[in-house]
Amino acid sequence: MPDKLNARPSSGFVSGLTGSGFALLTILTLVLVWPTLLPAQQDPSSRPISSIEKSALFPTRAKIDEGKALAETNCSACHGMDGVAANPELPNLATQRTIYLYRQLQEYRNGNRTASEMHRHVQYLDDAALLKAAIYYASLRYPNKESATEPDWINGDDPLRAVRASTAGCAGCHGAEGNSSVPGMPSLTAQHPDYFITAMNAYKAGERKHGMMQMLVATLGDDKIAEMGLFYALQEPAPATAPLPGDPVAGRTAAEPCASCHGADGNATSADMPTLAGQDAAYLVVSMKSYLDGDRVHEPMQQAMTGTNTIIINDIASFYASEKPLARNVRKPLTTSQWLHRCERCHGIKGDSPDPRYPSLAGQNKTYLMGAMRAYANGARSNRVMHAMSEPLSDNDIQRLSEYFAAQTPRRAIYLDLPCVELDESN
Ligand code: HEC
Ligand code: HEC
Ligand code: HEC
Ligand code: HEC
Repeated sequence: MPDKLNARPSSGFVSGLTGSGFALLTILTLVLVWPTLLPAQQDPSSRPISSIEKSALFPTRAKIDEGKALAETNCSACHGMDGVAANPELPNLATQRTIYLYRQLQEYRNGNRTASEMHRHVQYLDDAALLKAAIYYASLRYPNKESATEPDWINGDDPLRAVRASTAGCAGCHGAEGNSSVPGMPSLTAQHPDYFITAMNAYKAGERKHGMMQMLVATLGDDKIAEMGLFYALQEPAPATAPLPGDPVAGRTAAEPCASCHGADGNATSADMPTLAGQDAAYLVVSMKSYLDGDRVHEPMQQAMTGTNTIIINDIASFYASEKPLARNVRKPLTTSQWLHRCERCHGIKGDSPDPRYPSLAGQNKTYLMGAMRAYANGARSNRVMHAMSEPLSDNDIQRLSEYFAAQTPRRAIYLDLPCVELDESN
């Protein structure tokens, strides 16, 4: 491309401009081009349908044949003449919605959607040619498929099933649901996932010294730790049962300076603050002492413990341990079938898009669908809406949603009326 960029016209007007004149021209060009550039980059699917695009929804036989000839020379090597790609990483184009296809082709041509193979094949085609290719592929029938049986997760599912299994190794010490019944072992249920992550990473980094926890956390990735934190935060916290080492009434008074951070009853509200209410008393004693001794380094906590002694610590532990722990306010992740209902709002029931600007997902290649969702999630394919939809999806969700849509049989769209769409007659 650099050769093209450097090939400026040597007209007297441009070359005769002074520095500031050139800057002014640049600003002026930007101001003029910006409003037309912006919506195109943001989301090609939300633009109103132009009259040329609308006419493509009712194509003549001749237009389809012209598109066919074009596809034969330019596209069939990869997308097939039947619009079904042999390579599962490529998208099927048969029955795909006309205006979606057309606008994506423009996106490849102008470089907003990056894929070098596609850019190379459309860069010299004008709008009329792109529209014909779109018309041809959209007009094709999809090869008959066995109608898919509904997968077993469709009527509800536990999105935390996989992580529940991976907490099995923690249950012996922290309890099956994270409510400890072994003195000295902390309960994990009333902690916010953010604090949980900080604690786990402190073991990983060697800042918190506990051989067993350091060893266990060493093999866990960030995603797994985050999932575990969410799992424990979603369990109902149980009150502590172990005997109290001191006087909870004296402890309440001694703990008054702690209320600003940990809450008056030990139930913290901020995400990075540990809840102490209902925590195992022996663990509370050990943790307070470890700040006092300097084994666990955290300046505000070390300051807070300064001047305390074993008696005060036992009293404070008894106070917090006898308070009722409250569950943290965290949202349960959606099940795959709940996600599916969200997708259907835009992509149509079973992925059969009712709007010619939005892609059908029904019958699309599974591998291609998974790649598309990951690309939206990591920003490799830019689209605000789909980034927001894809980012929270777990790998499991991406797999299942793709499997589901790939198994559906798409219908060819026949557009009789477009009641919700304003027509933009200007182009
Ligand atoms: C060399 C192989 C190749 C050729 C030839 C080719 N394509 Fe593609 N096409 C691809 C690949 C690979 C992708 C997926 C790229 C991506 O992930 O963005 C793609 C994607 C597309 C998409 C996006 C579909 C969607 O669901 O978003 C459309 C539309 C498309 N091609 C149409 C065409 C048309 C029309 C032609 C002919 C003018 C053509 N392609 C020629 C390889 C090819
Ligand atoms: C052998 C018993 C044992 C096992 C198994 C174990 N832990 Fe622990 N865990 C402890 C002890 C003891 C502590 C307190 C250590 C300290 O003083 O820092 C602790 C502390 C923690 C803390 C910090 C709690 C807080 O309030 O700061 C978290 C979080 C935690 N464990 C999570 C886990 C997870 C997740 C697993 C499973 C992968 C696990 N633990 C397995 C014994 C265990
Ligand atoms: C300025 C805010 C602040 C004040 C005041 C404060 N704390 Fe903390 N406390 C924290 C933070 C932050 C942590 C987590 C630090 C870490 O990651 O080690 C913590 C941790 C703790 C823990 C360990 C919890 C666990 O699950 O491992 C105990 C116990 C504790 N504080 C008790 C107290 C007591 C008792 C007081 C009053 C004497 C007090 N704190 C005052 C901020 C505070
Ligand atoms: C608010 C509307 C909306 C919702 C809800 C939505 N999508 Fe999309 N989706 C779009 C738009 C618009 C595009 C085209 C974006 C572009 O230009 O790249 C798209 C594109 C896609 C693509 C790429 C299709 C192709 O052929 O390349 C996939 C895959 C996809 N969506 C999957 C999903 C899934 C799965 C969900 C549910 C978790 C979902 N979408 C929910 C609007 C939506």
